Amino acid sequence: MILLNSTKSSALGEDIASYLRINFESVSSRIFPDGETYIRISNDLQGKEVFIVQTMFPEPNNSLMEFLLIADTAKDLGAKKVTGIIPYMAYARQDRKFQAGEALSMKTVAALLKSVGVEYLITVDTHYQHVPHGKFDLFGLNSMNISAGRLLLAHIKDKFDEDLITIGPDFGSSEMVKYATGEEKVLKKEKICPICGLPATQCKCETKDKEYIISDVEGDFDFKDKTVVILDDIIASGGTMIQTVKKVKSGGARNIIIAATHGLFLKDSLNTLRTLTDYLVVTDSISTPVSNVSVAPLIGAFNTKS
Ligand code: R5P
Repeated sequence: MILLNSTKSSALGEDIASYLRINFESVSSRIFPDGETYIRISNDLQGKEVFIVQTMFPEPNNSLMEFLLIADTAKDLGAKKVTGIIPYMAYARQDRKFQAGEALSMKTVAALLKSVGVEYLITVDTHYQHVPHGKFDLFGLNSMNISAGRLLLAHIKDKFDEDLITIGPDFGSSEMVKYATGEEKVLKKEKICPICGLPATQCKCETKDKEYIISDVEGDFDFKDKTVVILDDIIASGGTMIQTVKKVKSGGARNIIIAATHGLFLKDSLNTLRTLTDYLVVTDSISTPVSNVSVAPLIGAFNTKS
């Protein structure tokens, strides 16, 4: 067995390889002046089981192309089985058509992965996955989604020796929060469209970049003088977290902690969130200044016989 990765995922790839106790090899890759991707694998892969680690942010399109070229080349070089390890999966938020005529991007990406010989896919807290932790079928591709929620909470409990209330900022995060906390009932919030008044999941308004209203749909929690953890799968623009932090703060919380699996931190959201909260942590699915929890042990615990 061998683990291949591009320069983008090298630190994480090396850690995963050591947990899996397999050889780690870097693939040479670069971008030609015209924007095309070049890759070269110098290892003997004949008859080997190959794991490819590639996280897909930043530059999701280049990352996807690089992954496809690596997987296809691995098969050309005689790899027996190719497993993709994609801690942050690009295009996962377009896993259904929200409006007629839209591309079902996740389906296309799954088809591309299959077409280059990927037999199994491992992802971490991927947005399309409604079962937070376990095996599932991604448009015909055998996959395993691993949740980092428990690891993030364990890290926070080590730092804050006090009672914590953990909430998800919206309906979409409720399953991840339930899996992480083991609690049946969590505070759920829902994004309400300011134009039509419907939940974001049902809204058909075409206006982009609107500020959703966050409304409580379940739970009656008293935040007064409490330490509140807001847990989510992804921080992109930071808008969802910022709104939730404001709400929790106005409820009188003493400390506010933010934890998410994937920190994209677009624009200046990392700085904004740092000033609004007492502690902020994400995993190393994407490398950031606050990636203080590693997903390598979770992925490394994957049973290669699965
Ligand atoms: C939504 O359902 C997701 O779980 C995240 O809450 C959302 O994608 C975060 O995006 P942003 O940081 O741009 O608000």
